[in-house]
Amino acid sequence: AASDFVRIVEVGPRDGLQNEKQSIPVATKIELIERLAQTGLKTIEAGSFVSPKWVPQMANSLQILEHMLQKPPQAPHTINYQWLLPNAKGLENFLSAFQSHTSHEQDAYPTPPPSPGADEGPALNTSSQDPNAMPSARSGAEAMGKGRSSNGPETELSIFTAATEAFTQKNTNCSIAESLQRFKPIMDRAKELNLPVRAYISVALGCPYEGPDVDPHKVAELAVSLLEMGADEISVADTTGMGTAPKTAQLLKTLSTAGVENNDIALHFHDTYGQALVNTVVGLEHGIRTFDAAVGGLGGCPFSPGATGNVATEDLVHLFHSLGLKTGVDIERLAGIGEWISNELGKANESRAGKATLAQ
Ligand code: HMG
Ligand code: MG
Repeated sequence: AASDFVRIVEVGPRDGLQNEKQSIPVATKIELIERLAQTGLKTIEAGSFVSPKWVPQMANSLQILEHMLQKPPQAPHTINYQWLLPNAKGLENFLSAFQSHTSHEQDAYPTPPPSPGADEGPALNTSSQDPNAMPSARSGAEAMGKGRSSNGPETELSIFTAATEAFTQKNTNCSIAESLQRFKPIMDRAKELNLPVRAYISVALGCPYEGPDVDPHKVAELAVSLLEMGADEISVADTTGMGTAPKTAQLLKTLSTAGVENNDIALHFHDTYGQALVNTVVGLEHGIRTFDAAVGGLGGCPFSPGATGNVATEDLVHLFHSLGLKTGVDIERLAGIGEWISNELGKANESRAGKATLAQ
């Protein structure tokens, strides 16, 4: 039977901010990550190493990585930080900071306080590993923050391709096949460094250029290829929010038939049409237990015109708790962060559950 613990991947600091027109100060981005680290969230996508010409807002991700390596937020549990990379150049930029840090990592991480152990889902063994170790060796089911047991921060990489040729061209200036070729050196290096790799498949439930009917078999074929290449998790993304309950069910069935296990799938919903929670329930019923979200419903993709933010993390947490599922996340703290960051960006808080929680 599927677990009653749901893992949430908070993508607010990357997906949530990448589309903002005004340059957001590094200090604000770091404060967002530090605040999120106090909510019980265990995986946070913190930035991306993409071309600054294409996505200027992410140009300061290197400074954020350097800060996170030198002064990671203190948290009572391991937090996995993810960094998005499109190609070898992005990897090179990431490694320029990561490797110089890990060569003298022993000095870097003070031992965090012991985990309170409350509402944690599957028990974490916090005693047997050196909390200062990063990266730590891990494999298979241990990957992607699913069963690791050290207490310090962990680093994970994300790569991304898409289910349609038109979107892949707009987003990364290459074909789907070329995007897979670009991942090979990233995957090889990640394996050497024991860094888990997540792979996104964009426009899995609708494409801004090719329309709402994306072939689920294409998504499944890509998922299988990415797993065979060594990806530890596939984040199946509804970039445009065109996903509906029947389409989501059909896609998950197709993935299962192709041999992709639920444990290897995360679902990444944007809420453009207001269907994200409905689609999430379809995912839960299918047995998926990892979902991406952004605090305050931040976000949008620069290469998907009109697409709005990710599903709000507060809304997901409220949904999961209402179903008796555990997340380990403190919704009141989270709601405060959604309100704070929305104010910082001068935009409306897009989380219904967040606003309602604050109004109580
Ligand atoms: P390109 O222009 O084809 O790259 O862009 P190129 O290889 O021809 O190189 C051109 C120049 O860019 C060179 O510099 C490179 O060094 C530089 P020059 O010699 O002219 O001075 N360059 C880079 N600089 C920094 N970082 C890099 C990098 N690569 C090359 N990594 C590229 C190709 C893939 C780089 C570009 O198209 C790109 O950065 N795309 C990223 C777009 C993006 O970030 N999209 C949003 C993230 S995906 C998303 O949001 C979807 C997701 O949330 C899931 C969902 O909801 O669907 C994940
Ligand atoms: Mg996205």
